[in-house]
Amino acid sequence: MIQLKNEPSSSPYLMLAIETSCDETSVAVVRNGREVLSNIVSSQIETHRKFGGVVPEIASRKHVESITVIIEEAIAEAAISLEEIDVIAVTQGPGLVGALLVGVVAAKSLALALDIPLIGTHHIAGHIYANHLVGDIEYPSLALVVSGGHTEIVLLESEGNFRIIGRTRDDAVGEAYDKVARALQFPYPGGPYVDRLAQSAEDEVVLPRAWLEPDSFDFSFSGLKSAVLSEINRSRMKGESPDFSALARGFQQSVIDVVTSKTMRAAKELGAKQVLLCGGVAANQGLRERLTTMCTEAGLPLLIPPHSLCTDNAAMIAAAADLKWRHKQFSSLDFKAEPVFSLEEWSVGK
Ligand code: KG4
Ligand code: ZN
Repeated sequence: MIQLKNEPSSSPYLMLAIETSCDETSVAVVRNGREVLSNIVSSQIETHRKFGGVVPEIASRKHVESITVIIEEAIAEAAISLEEIDVIAVTQGPGLVGALLVGVVAAKSLALALDIPLIGTHHIAGHIYANHLVGDIEYPSLALVVSGGHTEIVLLESEGNFRIIGRTRDDAVGEAYDKVARALQFPYPGGPYVDRLAQSAEDEVVLPRAWLEPDSFDFSFSGLKSAVLSEINRSRMKGESPDFSALARGFQQSVIDVVTSKTMRAAKELGAKQVLLCGGVAANQGLRERLTTMCTEAGLPLLIPPHSLCTDNAAMIAAAADLKWRHKQFSSLDFKAEPVFSLEEWSVGK
């Protein structure tokens, strides 16, 4: 049993959070769940780029190499001492198991050595609650989660209670962006390149929209990705060079039409008071603009984190772990990293 250093309540507290679920080693120090004192992110992108995607074994080794240094940096930048930390949070899942393990072992060691509580945290709850670092969340709230590994519409009926009402049936949006980017000869991860090319395009190759069943909030992006690839092949067979910018625009328009329409329909049908956008693809300029316009027209407040809080970072993990801290829900020292991890089960009401 872990002895609590001070009772979790509304009294001030300092949390150190660790995120190592994929290819970013990140450590943050956050006061009272919302005030970010430091948020150090060390990206491994340059290492993985030459392989065209994240290599799990390499990701784990890189996390091992950098975790201690990043913890020290986060503490130094926050201008505190390790002994002042009240609680440790860490991404428990979902993610790459070897990568998650590095963060989990570091977090457990710190919690044990400092004799403070530990909170195993859901990565997607982190993406959603990144919004709590930029504004107040009103419930019921509807979150559109768009990242490299996940595409979900999540209803938050109350604080910390998650209900997934739609999800991708194949590729995640970010994954589709990265595959299309590769076909357009951009380096990994190609989402931002496709975004920029789409924004500057003068023409558009109109591509299909995967609406699925009329009442469904689910998504499918693999057909759209294949449509881009076959357009490229068709042009080459005719001896023409494919119009990459018109294709990028067509792809982006199709993605944005579908994800924003479904989100707005869900918000209306489920009586949401607010919309939250999050995940790495929330950095997409076209998506941010369209959702902003649609929410303004519908009179719905919208929160979108700044770019640095959209992609993987540890401050968002602290923002989600704050829910558990306030409900006094801690993890035992023998909890396991969970590569597949249910968001709904992680709800504070469970
Ligand atoms: O959330 P994240 O950092 O990692 C996961 O948890 O997956 O998301 C990374 C994904 C990558 O697929 C990347 O290409 C995509 O987010 N991304 C973008 C943009 N910026 C990052 N996709 C489209 N447009 C962007 N501007
Ligand atoms: Zn993520």
